[in-house]
Amino acid sequence: MNKKTAISIILAGILMGAVAGIGSYKVFFAHATGYYPGGGAGYDPDEVMKAILGRKSVRHFTDQRVPRETLEHLTRAGMAAPSALNRQPWAFVVVTERARLDRLAEALPFAKMLKQAPAAIVVCGIASGSAGSDYWVMDCSAASQNILLAAEAMGLGAVWTAAYPSAERIAGVRAVLGIPDTAVPLNVIPLGYPTGEDKPKNKYRAENVHWERW
Ligand SMILES: Cc1cc2nc3c(=O)[nH]c(=O)nc-3n(C[C@H](O)[C@H](O)[C@H](O)COP(=O)(O)O)c2cc1C
Repeated sequence: MNKKTAISIILAGILMGAVAGIGSYKVFFAHATGYYPGGGAGYDPDEVMKAILGRKSVRHFTDQRVPRETLEHLTRAGMAAPSALNRQPWAFVVVTERARLDRLAEALPFAKMLKQAPAAIVVCGIASGSAGSDYWVMDCSAASQNILLAAEAMGLGAVWTAAYPSAERIAGVRAVLGIPDTAVPLNVIPLGYPTGEDKPKNKYRAENVHWERW
């Protein structure tokens, strides 16, 4: 090794060390002071926005299975959603058995991707008749969106396929999964690792935003 190469290697090492050092200093500084540049609660706003803007309906999956802990995390994301009067009127059915996923695909005319998906989460609403129960669709929709965003952030792909409000589709999903009359399947969310075919759409329209008044 000549002198020039040795100096280049040493300089590259110093540079890499400095980059790593600044990175860990930023984390240390944020934890020590409670001051997180950009994200008040400590999130990296760029990363959060990346997951929100990068989310898309994914209908093409590889055959890689989704670990149980990952599916559990997704239900945790669902249950973190806001709900009217904090009623949390939801229940989740996690499905990974091939035969059951195929039967769900047969019950739902617009969910044929279930035949390829290694897993699905069915978000169900509990409309108890008590105060606030009219909100179950909104509450369970918020839970569903949390699942879709968490899936995107975890490198998974997912798509909302509707059961509610079609009586026929609700009955079909109920029959496959043994869902009692006290719960209504709002949707079926097929999940898996994306093949990369599905891309996010740019849906931002400045004319849909009214400032101060319509
Ligand atoms: C209430 C609701 C019902 C939907 N039902 C279906 C469905 O049955 N099958 C399907 O493939 N996609 C369904 N979608 C996904 C939409 O087609 C999709 O969100 C829309 O085309 C926008 O695309 P994006 O999710 O990639 O942004 C549904 C979405 C919502 C919110």
